[in-house]
Amino acid sequence: MAPDLSTMFTGVRFQNPFLLSSAPPTESESNILRAFEAGWGGVVTKTIGLHPVVNVLGPKTKFLRADADSPHLSMKKRPGAALHSSWNWELISDKTLDWWVPRLGRIKKAFPEQALVASIMAGSGNDTELRHWQELAIACQNEGCDAVELNLSCPHMDRQDMGSNIGKDQELVSIVAKVVKEVARVPVWAKLTPSTTDIVVEARGAFLGGADAISSSNTFTSLPLVDMDTLEFEINVDGLVSTGGLGGPAILPLSLAKISQLTQAFPGKSFSGIGGISTFEHALNYFLLGCGTVQICTAAMLDHAVGPNVIRELTQGLARFLEKHADKGWARVDDFVGRRRDRVVAQSQIRRPDEKEYHGGHESAEGYAAPEEIEARRT
Ligand SMILES: Cc1cc2nc3c(=O)[nH]c(=O)nc-3n(C[C@H](O)[C@H](O)[C@H](O)COP(=O)(O)O)c2cc1C
Repeated sequence: MAPDLSTMFTGVRFQNPFLLSSAPPTESESNILRAFEAGWGGVVTKTIGLHPVVNVLGPKTKFLRADADSPHLSMKKRPGAALHSSWNWELISDKTLDWWVPRLGRIKKAFPEQALVASIMAGSGNDTELRHWQELAIACQNEGCDAVELNLSCPHMDRQDMGSNIGKDQELVSIVAKVVKEVARVPVWAKLTPSTTDIVVEARGAFLGGADAISSSNTFTSLPLVDMDTLEFEINVDGLVSTGGLGGPAILPLSLAKISQLTQAFPGKSFSGIGGISTFEHALNYFLLGCGTVQICTAAMLDHAVGPNVIRELTQGLARFLEKHADKGWARVDDFVGRRRDRVVAQSQIRRPDEKEYHGGHESAEGYAAPEEIEARRT
């Protein structure tokens, strides 16, 4: 019998726990239909907003690659180089809500069994802006969307009351989540920015506002590199650049650290892990740390724009994993979610050659558990 890859996440059924994240793979009706045909368990639409969007002239995304035999990193395409990361300064969808609405309905009708999550974004500076969040959420749920994801994390918004600028302010995160929850009939996920000191603070705000899940990470604020020969940034317009977002393999360990903080702080809550995933091996890290679903962008962009081979590898990888661990009673994803969450501990709890000499970096052991206590806790 084929293993059961399905899962329930925030009350929504997913045929498999693999979603395309909000980004170019989900920017159009045709892309989303192709993604569902390819077997993605869900998609999060490219973020839909109400304010006008005009992107920069020229490329919105490029891919940084590393040579195998030298430390050289460059966005120039060349044979034998391995993907290091994606870099983008693309804004949210440049299509209007009116453009999206009939398409969302059509997509849902064509694929009723696959989960359609609408990513939405508005400002937060006044009541009118906050009502925009409600307008967006209502319009999307009326078309049959299974959940909404609040984009509180786009790293390249000039407006102080939008994107990651909201995500850096725990009160605004809470207010936006609450305002959307007031009208939502579907689960509300909050996609937080990784660009803060302690993501647990903003996550607490989101949960206090009523969010049903946290998605993390969006891209990390970053700059492209300067080309040695031209002395120009590898991506620029008229010689100018602004900060953008880093995704892909380079952010996998960074994002895992954020997820570990989140799942330890809120072990009973739901998390959707994002960042650097292209294989089941990568996704497994997120599941073991406590994520119920995962989302993918960069790897899918580089695989026929919607990732048909990526989703095949992910589902086959999960099926093989379940077969291999059937003797543990692991029949579905939920059976191993969080199994390695508690293995991440404070430095002072890691065994040393001579424990008596180490007091968490302090002169004396004051305020730290005595080594005997640590030993007792371990056994
Ligand atoms: C070109 C591009 C556009 C993106 N646009 C959005 C967006 O509109 N809304 C959003 O929430 N995230 C957006 N993201 C972030 C991705 O959804 C994802 O969080 C991030 O790329 C990390 O995943 P990855 O390492 O698999 O790429 C975008 C990423 C890229 C590369």
